[in-house]
Amino acid sequence: MSTSNIQDILSGGGGRFVYVTAALAALNGLLFGFDTGIISGAFLFIENEFTMSSLVEGIVVSGAMAGAAVGAAVGGKLADRLGRRRLILISAIVFFIGSLTMAVAPNVPVLVAGRLIDGVAIGFASIVGPLYISEIAPPKIRGALTSLNQLMVTVGILSSYFVNFALADSESWRAMLGAGMVPAVILAIGILKMPESPRWLFEHGKEAEARAILQQTRSGDVEKELEEIRGTVSKQSNTGLRDLLEPWLRPALVVGLGLAVFQQVTGINAVIYYAPTILESTEFGNATSILATVGIGLINVVMTIVAIALIDRVGRRALLLTGVGGMVVTLGILGAVFYLPGFSGGLGIIATVSLMLFVAFFAIGLGPVFWLLISEIYPLAVRGSAMGIVTVANWGANLLVSLMFPVMTANLGTPSTFWIFGVCSLVALVFTYALVPETKGRSLEAIENDLRKNIASTDDD
Ligand code: BGC
Repeated sequence: MSTSNIQDILSGGGGRFVYVTAALAALNGLLFGFDTGIISGAFLFIENEFTMSSLVEGIVVSGAMAGAAVGAAVGGKLADRLGRRRLILISAIVFFIGSLTMAVAPNVPVLVAGRLIDGVAIGFASIVGPLYISEIAPPKIRGALTSLNQLMVTVGILSSYFVNFALADSESWRAMLGAGMVPAVILAIGILKMPESPRWLFEHGKEAEARAILQQTRSGDVEKELEEIRGTVSKQSNTGLRDLLEPWLRPALVVGLGLAVFQQVTGINAVIYYAPTILESTEFGNATSILATVGIGLINVVMTIVAIALIDRVGRRALLLTGVGGMVVTLGILGAVFYLPGFSGGLGIIATVSLMLFVAFFAIGLGPVFWLLISEIYPLAVRGSAMGIVTVANWGANLLVSLMFPVMTANLGTPSTFWIFGVCSLVALVFTYALVPETKGRSLEAIENDLRKNIASTDDD
């Protein structure tokens, strides 16, 4: 995080409440990350208890993604109708029910049902977490808080790995999956103490309450901000989903959808969800594989912090191009290593290091930059609906990869699978170079004006 970002955050601009909000955001991101990451270790032991075909294996892992696509699709509407705070409470309850169902599952269908329920909660969280933060944060620190959300997703994934590692000896996959109940309870209790988003209150005609919450959470005068909200709300009420297909908005839609799909089809979650299974073939043994997976989770966290530190200095494009370029190279190496005969020992170490570097390159590029860009490139009036569509595409592609990964490795082999991800990364690199605009240092209005003039800049300034 840049020094000025840290100073901005510490100087507040919003009083103590901003930090409480960030803590809440952290919990949302944490749950999203924890519940998507936990399957990687649990899966090794589920396989021992239940006999499954490779397709069913894929469904167990990817059931949560199917649920998340549904959760993201309806999450935006529910957040508008019920309020952000109520949806967060509902998602915490659904997280709890999903985790409990998985923990007690007597057979594969119930396990899949639990993953689906849990996934719906993940989908809700992926929409309502950033939405709530961006609406409640003072504009000055909204960017930093947006990136913090991705950081907490990675922390959640890392926590799930620690839980997996701690419980590996006892092979207690039920406890691993049930552990999600703990943060869910904390989130449910935490959200009861949070106020509703002032913006949502304003949209629902509760101007006095909106003003009171802004006064409670801002250090200065709130009238100017209320005026801005009023302007946005009146614009939004005249804007529908169809406006997204307006010619001037198409480039932004293409960039968002493209990055959403590329973030997934380049294979990050094959590694995040299946790392211990991949590393098993290195003959390291279950516990060592899970430990190496903890290393992968740690690198994901650390490199996300590095990305946050660099993102406002070197810009989004430079990070994306470096990150995706690095993914192309590491995927090429991974395919080659798994292709070589007599795979073990030294090659196992090269494979592990390459997997770690692959994650590092994802974490400085496609990981945080995707979520940041989709919160920057859409005009305020259509930002919610555009982000909703793009997020569903992201979960859909996630589902495809996690469903197909075991099938691909079983039928095409591990080397070809990594090389396919490598080719997708190469296409992502060309796509980024040709189409992704630089948004660093630009006001959202300037980005919107560029779009209107259809000259979204690709300068590296
Ligand atoms: C992606 C997730 C992924 C995570 C890994 C997020 O940006 O959307 O699919 O599991 O990064 O850190």
